[in-house]
Parts: sequence; C-alpha cells; structure tokens
Amino acid sequence: MIVTEPADVFDPRHYEACRRPVEIAETLPNWCYTSQAFYEREREHIFLKQWICAGHESRVATPGSFFTFDFVGVPMIVVRGKDDVVRALVNACRHRGGEVATGSGECAAFKCPYHAWTFALDGDLIGTPMFEESDVFRKADYGLTQVRLERWGGFLWINFDPHAESLFAYLGDLPGRVAAWKPEEMALASHKTYFVEANWKQYYENFSDPYHVPFVHRSSLSFKPVKRRQLHDPAIYRGNYVMHRAWFDGTRSVLPGEASFPEIPIPEEDRGTFYPWIYPTAGMGFAIDSLFCVQILPDGPERMRIERDFLVPKAYTELPDYEATLANYLKSQEVVQFEDVPILEMQQRSMHSPVYKTGRFATLDQLVHGCQNWILDRVLDPDPAREVTKQRHLRSVSIT
Ligand code: FES
Ligand SMILES: [Fe+2]
Repeated sequence: MIVTEPADVFDPRHYEACRRPVEIAETLPNWCYTSQAFYEREREHIFLKQWICAGHESRVATPGSFFTFDFVGVPMIVVRGKDDVVRALVNACRHRGGEVATGSGECAAFKCPYHAWTFALDGDLIGTPMFEESDVFRKADYGLTQVRLERWGGFLWINFDPHAESLFAYLGDLPGRVAAWKPEEMALASHKTYFVEANWKQYYENFSDPYHVPFVHRSSLSFKPVKRRQLHDPAIYRGNYVMHRAWFDGTRSVLPGEASFPEIPIPEEDRGTFYPWIYPTAGMGFAIDSLFCVQILPDGPERMRIERDFLVPKAYTELPDYEATLANYLKSQEVVQFEDVPILEMQQRSMHSPVYKTGRFATLDQLVHGCQNWILDRVLDPDPAREVTKQRHLRSVSIT
C-alpha cells in the first residue's frame, strides 16, 4: 500500500485550509481516510467519548434476550436482565478475556467457552469452576464491565465515558423537534446489516450532502421535486447533531408508483424529510410515513459495518396489506443504498493516490465542511491530560 500520510499527521498546519470559512476552505487531506494513526485518535477522542446508537430496544424485548457487536475494537453485549433492566456489558471474560456471548438470542446466563466462568445477565460473576472464593479473590469484584446505556426514541445509546453529559443533554433540542413522530412508539419493521469498504467519514459526509441526490439517486429519491431545502444552522438547532431537511409532496421512501403507508399526522411545516446526523455515528430520516436510523460501526480506517433500521407507527403493522407495502419500502432502500455504496467505495480508493490534492466545497455540500471541522476540533485540539500522560510515560521509560 502506498503511504500518503506525513510523519507529523497531527500538525495543525496540514489542516489550515480546511479550517478556513467554507467559501474558501479545502477538503480534508486524503490520509484522514486511510491513516491508522488518525483513526486511533478518532477512537480515543470521539468514539469512546460520545453517545453511540447501539440498536433498537425491541432487539432485547424480553428478559434474557441479547445481541452482541464489536464497536471500534470493543466487543459488546446488550442484554435485558431478569430485572427488566437493559445493560451494555463488555463482552470480555474477567478471567482472561474470552468472549462470553456470540451473535444474538436468549439465554439465562453467559458462560465463557474457555474455562466456563459464568456471569449473570446483569454482569455479575456467579461461577468459577474448580476455583473457590478466598480472602484474596471475591467474585463480586470480577463482574463484566458495564458501560453507560441510556434511551431515546426507542433506541439504546451507549457511552464509554463515565464523565460524559447525559444522553438527553447531548441531544439538545432534537427530541422536541421530532416529538410529533412519537419515535419511541414505532415498530421496528426491518433491521439489516451490511459492510462498506470505506472510511466511516465517507458515509457521515455523504449523509449530510444533498448535492449528490439528483445525480446518484436520479432513479430513486430524486423523482420527487424538492420544493425547498434547509441546511443546518447552529443558531436554530441546538445539540450534538447536524441536520438538513427537504420539503416535497408525499413520500419518496418508495419508488415511483408504488403503494405507500398512510401519512403520519405531523405539523405542516415538517412535511418532507428531516435528516439529523447525531454525532458521531447515527443518522436518522424522519419522513412523512416512516423513520429510518442508520448506525455506523467503524472497523478500522477503511471499513465500516452499517446497521440500518426501518420503523413505522405500530398501527401500520395491523394494516391488511402491511407486508406488501413494507416490501416496497425495503426495495426502495436497497436501490438507494446500492446507489450510494459504490460511490463511497470509489471515493475511498482515490484516497490512496500519492498525488491526491484537496478539493472545494460547493454550496449544497457545505455541511460536509462542518462535519470535517467537527472531527478536527476533536482530533487536533491539544489535550493537556494527554500530554501529561505521555510525558509521564516517557519519564518512566527513561528511569527504568
Ligand atoms: S477466559 Fe473466560 S473462563 Fe477463562
Ligand atoms: Fe445518497
């Protein structure tokens, strides 16, 4: 592989052009999409610090139901306990790190496949075969590590930072803005997983870029003429999200001529689709008839797993033609998704060019500039604690 990143990858001078006002700014350098070092910094300063959408609550509907996933190298379990509390647990045995659960399903306890240490659904260590408790070993000290979990909109959100603000504070005004959809009362109609061979930021940027829609989605989304658009204005929208909105008549969540679900009674000014991207990894689309939520699970700098959830008001699942109508929505999503994915992977390939030059932002993709600077704010900003840790480490190395 050709290495394009400089040795001083975090020197702010490399990013000065991206830091300018959008009219005269340039895009991020290509190594931001391929560099392991840049990705590691994103993991430390973004993924392990912010609220992450981990999935829909209905995936753990009953006590004992669980699902597992890997989030930026941390194996995780989300499980509903016998006490009906949903918890996020690190899927690493407190003996020597075995994964105590795989896939998803229902269970009464988690038993590690290595030496059979057993953990209750709340993470407590309850069994250590051929190894007794003693004065120096108490099971109570070796439960599975628990990560913060809070709920909003029917979704479960996790945060690895014990000092992070609450999810509700993090979301700002977003819950109020979409209250008319009653997202927490919606039914999960479809859950799909797929992989994209591209840096996670490609998806995040593409989501906030309505510029590509008439070209990439000319056979799908763009059959509905957009009457008006609104791009995020931080003076109006408060919270850790960036939004855009498109107003058009009816729905564009099915292909032209296909039957659709009834409209959700939302205020007149909300007709069309409202697209908030909740930093850093969750994108939602509040449409006139449905809701989707995309969750990105970055897998190194050049791959990501996508979890795509599609939701409708619960009452729709009782409609006589529910399955047939739902199929129209899922077909449309397949079309849209396979219009976007090849573009993201194509873009990723060009990030390896040793002669890559940065580009400019157009009026309609100016939110991408904000997205890129949001990353730089967190990746580049000096962190005094980090410097202290680094120096302490260096000193201890020199002493020993
Ligand atoms: S690593 Fe789990 S029981 Fe040994
Ligand atoms: Fe797209």
